[in-house]
Amino acid sequence: MKIDVLSLFPDMFTGVFEQSILKKAKEKGVASYKVTNFRDFADNKHNKVDDYPYGGGAGMVLMPQPIFDAVDSLKQQVAPEAKPPRIILMTPQGDRYTQRHAEELAKEDHLIFLCGHYEGYDERIREQLVTDELSIGDYVLTGGELAAMVIIDSVVRLLPGALGNDVSAVTDSFSSGLLEHPQYTRPANFRGFKVPDVLLSGNHAKIEEWRKAESLRRTRERRPDLLEAYKEKPE
Ligand code: ADE
Repeated sequence: MKIDVLSLFPDMFTGVFEQSILKKAKEKGVASYKVTNFRDFADNKHNKVDDYPYGGGAGMVLMPQPIFDAVDSLKQQVAPEAKPPRIILMTPQGDRYTQRHAEELAKEDHLIFLCGHYEGYDERIREQLVTDELSIGDYVLTGGELAAMVIIDSVVRLLPGALGNDVSAVTDSFSSGLLEHPQYTRPANFRGFKVPDVLLSGNHAKIEEWRKAESLRRTRERRPDLLEAYKEKPE
């Protein structure tokens, strides 16, 4: 998967792409990342990327020209017969991001993330350029960069070959629609706190039964909304 990011603060991404699973995915050829500063595409003398809103009011608005030109340039770098990219605008006004979005995006070949900072976006960017608008939650960040990192992380780990053990991506919380059951490791008795006997029993059917029950109990206690959705559509 090819992942492009358009941002005025490209350095924010360096640590994230160079660590852990995202780094390994790049080394294995599963994903590639490129961050482009769309200020480099501004066609005015001072490399301005934003301007005052028509009609007045506070704040600045990102102009369409640098962003449209930056996206055109990214599109030209892939073969013309390639599947068109998903162009994803990061905004608190977007669709609230969930694991379902991650699974859907993981099927694509090319993602372009558009990150604004402080400013609003000229509406023509929304109307004519982007394919998706996503929000990572009902709070306002100073920019879309952190939100794009969250989404990229959650998508890349789903790509075949990204995780050492493919099973873990499909069995973890949310993929099943339920929260994960409790996990324990050695020692069996830590400061007098014991691991449940069933997990030491070696009886795999009983262990599976216990895990399913715990998963349901935890979801009921912590996320009854997920449990309702699961009951309507069990996987
Ligand atoms: N930009 C600012 N806040 C955001 C949010 N919650 N999600 C996505 N992009 C954002």
